[in-house]
Amino acid sequence: MCGIVGYIGDRKILPIIIDGLKRLEYRGYDSAGVALVGNDSYFIKTKGRISLLEEKINNSYIDGNYFVGIGQTRWATHGEPSDLNAHPHIDCNGEIFVVHNGIIENYYEIKKDLIERGHRFLSETDTEVVPHLIEEYYEGDILKAVLKAVNKLRGSFALAILSKKERDKIIAVRKESPLIVGIGKNENFLASDIPALLPHTKNIVILKDGEIALITKDEIKIFDMQGNQIGIEKMEINWNLEQSEKKGYKHFMLKEIMEEGEVLKEVIRGRVKDEKIELNEIKDKDFLRRVENIYIIACGTAYHAGLIGNYILTDLLNIPVKTEVASEFRYENPNLSKNSLVILVSQSGETADTIASLRVAKKLGAKTLGVVNVNGSTIFRESDEVLQIFAGPEIAVASTKAYVAQILTLLLFSVYIGKIRGDVDEDFEKFIVGEIKRVSEFSEILLDKKDEYLEIAKEIKDLDDIFYIGRLLDYPTALEGALKLKEISYIHAEGYPAGELKHGPLALIEEKVPTFAISTDERVFEKIVSNIKEVKARNGKVYSIVRDDFKGIIKESDRSVIIPKTHIYLSPILSVIPLQLIAYFTADLKGLDVDKPRNLAKSVTVE
Ligand code: M6R
Repeated sequence: MCGIVGYIGDRKILPIIIDGLKRLEYRGYDSAGVALVGNDSYFIKTKGRISLLEEKINNSYIDGNYFVGIGQTRWATHGEPSDLNAHPHIDCNGEIFVVHNGIIENYYEIKKDLIERGHRFLSETDTEVVPHLIEEYYEGDILKAVLKAVNKLRGSFALAILSKKERDKIIAVRKESPLIVGIGKNENFLASDIPALLPHTKNIVILKDGEIALITKDEIKIFDMQGNQIGIEKMEINWNLEQSEKKGYKHFMLKEIMEEGEVLKEVIRGRVKDEKIELNEIKDKDFLRRVENIYIIACGTAYHAGLIGNYILTDLLNIPVKTEVASEFRYENPNLSKNSLVILVSQSGETADTIASLRVAKKLGAKTLGVVNVNGSTIFRESDEVLQIFAGPEIAVASTKAYVAQILTLLLFSVYIGKIRGDVDEDFEKFIVGEIKRVSEFSEILLDKKDEYLEIAKEIKDLDDIFYIGRLLDYPTALEGALKLKEISYIHAEGYPAGELKHGPLALIEEKVPTFAISTDERVFEKIVSNIKEVKARNGKVYSIVRDDFKGIIKESDRSVIIPKTHIYLSPILSVIPLQLIAYFTADLKGLDVDKPRNLAKSVTVE
């Protein structure tokens, strides 16, 4: 969750570290700090945002010739956000500097032992044991000391380490939490996520689990946890700097929603040709014929996309399909065999619970398919098969464009596997391809209705509770609409299957508790009319997100946002757009920090 940045080279170090931290601030933002080492050392940290760190830096004395630097922006796990708990952490002599992302599970025993040996601790963090352990093992070689130290640690960690005694190197360690080395000319970089590297280089090395990098100005060497040097695998990033910047939008979230039309075209590029869907990335096509059951595993918004995939796969195939949140699945005893397919949906590809589920599935012999945005991420690398969603960098904590790309990718996959298994015929494929080709154009119509969303946002911004209801494929949309609103506007919102309202939640409906009713499926259109009437009878206001031909719903609603008619498999892509934008405008009208909502972070790399 925390963001880590490192730089070694001849340029001014501090601006590079600060710029990198700002680009990673979405990963965590309760405190921040930097350490620079050269002829002297400079070390500063603070509770609060990076802007506060900059203020502190401007008011501090910084003079010296520095060769190397690291920085971190934190999302607190152990120890509240405070100046002392902010990273970097240091050893007793202030010679070793460490920044960390992850959790060190056995820190308590280690800390106790180190205190008995005379080490002095300043913070409540788990991280602080690392510089002290390195100090304990240091005998003139920082790499050897780090190796000994990390072999004592349990848990997940990405670490960047500097030593005043060896001023020409950064040591980086990856166990579970992501770290990427950026390759420059006479300079090298380190970051926990790609956006920090984009202004400097597109050539990278993604550290694998259990790898340690020794980074100097001119060289990168990779070792395993036993200290054996291993080969490095370089790759090129296919994102550009512009994609990771706001491009004049007030917030990344708004920019990312407005990109959805283009993203939908990217998802199908090269995959939809003439009237056919071809997923050439799938290597083992024969396996798709043998699949006996499918699990879809994900968290948060990706889980809602999974529910939509679940519906479509169940509708098209004659096999059981189940979708579960990763934090549950990883501890269950799922019915997996060598003919099971487990689909892991994740924007970041680094969500700890989803990675753990992937590993459980592999251990139980199932085939795994990652539906991932970030190329080179853990789920991308460890899945047997991968479908990239091509949404480009998603910076706002609230996931939006990745969601529509996940749904469309899952739809492509569902039709493709259906075709391979003989469950989908040519006529249906041809028809659905036609609808798929139009979805981007339809999305643009909805992206253009900002004034309508703003009006609704004005009406709901001061309320405390809101319900979202839908049936069938509109139910995951209700869940996603509620999640979007609550995570960025802090208004309590709940998504419900519309038929469930009268089994409890209806007790809460009154004048100040409105309901968003999503309705795009004619099979249950009349049922939704009844549900809306139930709400209206309790003085609840109703906003409907509704297909253009459902006049009965439009008539019953206080306000309606009209959705173009498309096939039910595609309507969740369209109906979520108004809900995303209403959530955005509501949070913005409330003056909240839309891109960095309280208590949250972009990729949840701890359990
Ligand atoms: O990177 P992932 O897709 O695996 O992330 C999953 C969730 O953490 C994520 O969707 C989260 O729920 C977002 N804040 C939702 O907007």
